[in-house]
Amino acid sequence: MHIYNTLFTQTTVGSRIAKNRFVSQPMEGNDADKGKVSPRTLQRYKELAQGNWGIIIVEALSINANSLARKNQLVLHESTLASFKNLIAEMKAIDPDTLILLQITHSGRKSGKAFSHPTALYEPEPGEHLLTTEEIQQIQNEFIHAVLLAEQTGADGVDFKLCHGYLGCEFLRPANIREDKWGGSLENRTRFFREAIIAIRKELTSDTFILGSRISYYEGIRGGCGTAAADDPVENLEEMDAIISMMAELNFDYINVSAGIPGVTSEITRPTPTSKWFYLHQFRYARRARRFAGSMKVIGSAFSVLQEGSLEAGVENIERGDIDFVGWGRQTLADPLFPKKVLLQESVDYCKLCSGCSRLMVKQEPVGCIIFPR
Ligand SMILES: Cc1cc2nc3c(=O)[nH]c(=O)nc-3n(C[C@H](O)[C@H](O)[C@H](O)COP(=O)(O)O)c2cc1C
Repeated sequence: MHIYNTLFTQTTVGSRIAKNRFVSQPMEGNDADKGKVSPRTLQRYKELAQGNWGIIIVEALSINANSLARKNQLVLHESTLASFKNLIAEMKAIDPDTLILLQITHSGRKSGKAFSHPTALYEPEPGEHLLTTEEIQQIQNEFIHAVLLAEQTGADGVDFKLCHGYLGCEFLRPANIREDKWGGSLENRTRFFREAIIAIRKELTSDTFILGSRISYYEGIRGGCGTAAADDPVENLEEMDAIISMMAELNFDYINVSAGIPGVTSEITRPTPTSKWFYLHQFRYARRARRFAGSMKVIGSAFSVLQEGSLEAGVENIERGDIDFVGWGRQTLADPLFPKKVLLQESVDYCKLCSGCSRLMVKQEPVGCIIFPR
């Protein structure tokens, strides 16, 4: 039996089967061709498709060209649809058994310099545009539309991005004290994803299309997700517990548990050698999510910092019942063939935790591993 046998057991996500527990987490490549899948993007995902991953979550795809966090971010829209159909077809031709999910997002106030920094938060900072009630309605419609386009690409599902400080995450915060239907009470703050998911389910043509979401259980900012009040920075996870319960009631198929806001509380999102122990918080959040997840599968995050030890940690967390899937982010850039190499007991290029990929993203350059370039 393989030493990491647990990681190679199959399990269900919704009504689909994932062949193993390896999840390639979404990683922005900033290499689109005016929103379309470029040759470089295609090459990256074709390499990943050769890696024997159970699930590949394709990076954050913006629902329109006005909400980009990266100037060369991918956009899922009618005008780019053909390039995504080709991407999925090419990946499926390499490995039809890997489940492919597309992460759908609107960058909100994290939209890049060339944009208006639209925000849902009631008190916009200078230079930010406070979205109107109607504009948010429009964005919700675009989200719904993007998910329906995602189904047309041939992908197996979508990841509804509600994490890392982007617009979907802004809504959920106690700091969202808007006085319209999108803010204030927890019911209003969760309206964006709740209504969208109900509408999406009615319009999807397939009932096996996977719907999941990625959250930041605790963002580490005043009034952020995982706090108790708009002016409180201290961790209190009760509201996020309730949000996960809502997702379970809405029959989401999985919850992808993350934390922090890259660029603000980056060490929580992606621990580095000097902040290695933050991974234990991520494990704690995933374990807690399980209590409220009902039949949703739980994906854990932030394993790359453990390098080779992430395999053992993944096995342990699955066997304890804390998670169903182990998610790797930076490791997918260091070695897109990671699960395949582990299975075949070949030598793996482990992420050196140099943060080179993050620096490329911040500099608005195409993202990749600078130690093991592909
Ligand atoms: C360059 C880079 C791009 C990322 N892009 C995304 C993204 O598109 N969507 C997302 O949810 N998280 C994104 N993340 C976060 C990762 O998915 C992951 O949560 C984080 O790197 C921690 O996992 P790790 O320790 O295994 O790298 C990104 C992280 C990095 C470093």
